[in-house]
Amino acid sequence: MQSAPALDPYPITAATAAFLKRSHELLIGGRWVGPHAGGTIEVIDPATARRIATVSAATAPDVDAAVAAARAAFEAGPWSAMSGGARAKLLWALADRIAADARVLAELETLDNGKPLSETLAIDIPVGAELLRYMGGWATKLNGESVHIGEPGDFQAYTLREPVGVVGQIIPWNFPLLMALLKIGPALAAGCTIILKPAEQTPLTALRLGALMLEVGFPPGVINILTGYGETAGAAMSAHGGIDKIAFTGSTEVGRRVVAAAAGNLKRVSLELGGKSPMIVMPDADVDAVLAGAVPGIFFNAGQSCMAGSRLIVHETLAAPIIEGMIARAKGIRIGSGFDPSTQVGPLVSQQQLERVQAHIASGLSEGATLVAGGQRVDREGYFLEPTIFTGVTPTMTIAREEIFGPVLCVSTFTGTNLDDIAALGNDTAYGLAASVWTNNLTVAHRMIRKLKSGQVWINAHHVGGPDLPVGGYKQSGWGRELGRAGVEMYTEVKAVAIALEKPGPWLTLKG
Ligand code: NAI
Ligand code: MG
Repeated sequence: MQSAPALDPYPITAATAAFLKRSHELLIGGRWVGPHAGGTIEVIDPATARRIATVSAATAPDVDAAVAAARAAFEAGPWSAMSGGARAKLLWALADRIAADARVLAELETLDNGKPLSETLAIDIPVGAELLRYMGGWATKLNGESVHIGEPGDFQAYTLREPVGVVGQIIPWNFPLLMALLKIGPALAAGCTIILKPAEQTPLTALRLGALMLEVGFPPGVINILTGYGETAGAAMSAHGGIDKIAFTGSTEVGRRVVAAAAGNLKRVSLELGGKSPMIVMPDADVDAVLAGAVPGIFFNAGQSCMAGSRLIVHETLAAPIIEGMIARAKGIRIGSGFDPSTQVGPLVSQQQLERVQAHIASGLSEGATLVAGGQRVDREGYFLEPTIFTGVTPTMTIAREEIFGPVLCVSTFTGTNLDDIAALGNDTAYGLAASVWTNNLTVAHRMIRKLKSGQVWINAHHVGGPDLPVGGYKQSGWGRELGRAGVEMYTEVKAVAIALEKPGPWLTLKG
């Protein structure tokens, strides 16, 4: 492949360089248009702290225009008349187009988010493409049910599943492309039209995705992409009376704001929010298996994952080998540019995220936790932070309660084998997104699965998922489930139909 001048010591392909140089406008009604208020967002490479592109900042009038385009596409035009089979073919074509564009998408993702190129190529892109194919399968299977009505009288009754309508999708920066695909796949399968807002920190792959969607033939207005800030574009979407549903992934704090804004037209809301997921190590666990799972459990994506196993809760009999093993492995993690093939963990996404995580580390130290690994910035440009481990973390410390969203592991130990007590340690959080348990005892495993208040429970593994496995949270980790059948049904309304096959009985007839 041709190389273009490098933005860092590693060359990028000419196609990526050409894409970066474009003037990045908003995708509304099948056309790229400038933002109404003319605002811009500087896109920063977190590995170098340098600007790599400038994109548009949408505001409320752009949201109005995108909603009008999405409404028109939903109510009339080719999309509204398209069969599930035709929508499925478009989703499959998009999956193939994304796979063909993998190199450019992965380079943009590394420049924008910092994550290792190899990881995007091995995980985000193939998983995202497969997710679209899986969701394409649902487009032909969103059937209702025939229903028997128990009342006297002869009726034929059934349910229909219809698309919920125009949906607003607000996504975060930790898996920019994968989050976009995870959001659009089920909505498109269900027949909805979309206004997608990527995070202001990482808008590039969403813009590229928009271009690919036009190429493969999604009709105008089906997908509208608004780059913009949360407080302006995101808030306008949440409050918009013309949007029928918001799907949001991000902080619990903003999730609450989305819910409040959505109250105006009582739009449907699904939320995938924060987590403080425990990794619970039972006394019979296999130490090597724990280490193999818990290291990526917390440090994958520099800990910037809603399901990160940020609390390691270990039985005291295994504490020594597990803590020693985690420290050795944390210190061995290769941190660097996502373009360096040897890099395992890239930078944090932004200066702001780096400062947030550093503030959590400072709070851990001041509240009396013991720092046993990392804790410092890496001595180079960019937002790199060492993999960090605290031991002696008690449940009341701030680092044990708040989502850190960085490469920081909190270790605590327990004694005894009472499963209610152990599960209570795992459940001692406002969140309930994921949990893993490490044991080879089947009875213990199944009992712990029942006791943990968590949308995902993994046994002897962490971070396991696929297009057909629902994702979502108990408690303050969110509302609803994404992926799987639940994930696509969330983009539908159920319509109940009853047809009288004979004259209604006298109890329904008014005299007259
Ligand atoms: P955030 O919740 O502010 O951002 C997520 C998305 O929401 C972005 O697209 C943003 O533009 C949008 N947004 C922000 N304010 C909004 C508003 N008032 N109305 C509508 N949309 C709005 O997250 P942020 O500030 O980037 O990160 C803060 C913390 O949130 C992180 O440290 C982490 O703890 C958590 N987080 C959780 C994520 C998850 O996957 N569950 C993803 C990103 C952040
Ligand atoms: Mg924010």
